[in-house]
Amino acid sequence: MSRRRLCAGNWKMYKTAEEACAFARAFVPLVSPSLPAEVVLCPPFTALCPLVAELRGTTIALGAQDVYWEPEGAYTGAISARMLADCGAHYVIVGHSERRQLFGESDDDVRKKTIAALDAGLTPIVAVGEGWEIRERGDAEAHVRAQVRASLQGISSDRLRSIAIAYEPIWAIGSGRNCGASLANDAIGCIRESVAGLEETPILYGGSVKAENIAAYMREPEIDGALVGGASLDPHAFARICDAVAQ
Ligand code: PGA
Repeated sequence: MSRRRLCAGNWKMYKTAEEACAFARAFVPLVSPSLPAEVVLCPPFTALCPLVAELRGTTIALGAQDVYWEPEGAYTGAISARMLADCGAHYVIVGHSERRQLFGESDDDVRKKTIAALDAGLTPIVAVGEGWEIRERGDAEAHVRAQVRASLQGISSDRLRSIAIAYEPIWAIGSGRNCGASLANDAIGCIRESVAGLEETPILYGGSVKAENIAAYMREPEIDGALVGGASLDPHAFARICDAVAQ
């Protein structure tokens, strides 16, 4: 079965609106409009609206890095899925390990965010992954399977076609410590089997992806793309990664 390919850049808390626009001006000419992969930039909230104007007329989509599940209300500092869609986002990352670890997000929070994103017509990129201790204990696959089941609980298999998943082992994020391609492939295969209805869902690998190592991941049959942190901050490096994802 051929699944769609996806390459998303997670900028985390980097780039002002002006820096984001400068990135877009350098990046757009490097991405072929007929690239057979979806390319998504996930800047901080403050750069979303300015980037919409820069990306108009291109095939490059925008995503946010987080969302709150309530549609509106007295939730100081929070941003709803409808607000994201309104400002031009089509994707949103939910459950990134930095949100889970630094901001205490639970699987149930991730589930509510995933549903809110789907309700607003956004594609959630649901991130899961194990820490090093869990991997060393030999519990990585069970941990990731449990995360996926809890994060997607109650979502119909019909709707699961409209999400993406990112497998990001925490020990490989921003560490330069690579998760081998075949290890990533095995974990992703296990994710795909953990819940019925994920046959057509793109599942990405994330964790120290670079232009130099992406080809090895994309040779693996279960890996449909990449969620890229550090290397997505440079337009040339990220364009090379997007090209490799489309191969
Ligand atoms: P990294 O980050 O590519 O810098 O390891 C990936 C991520 O956190 O999504």
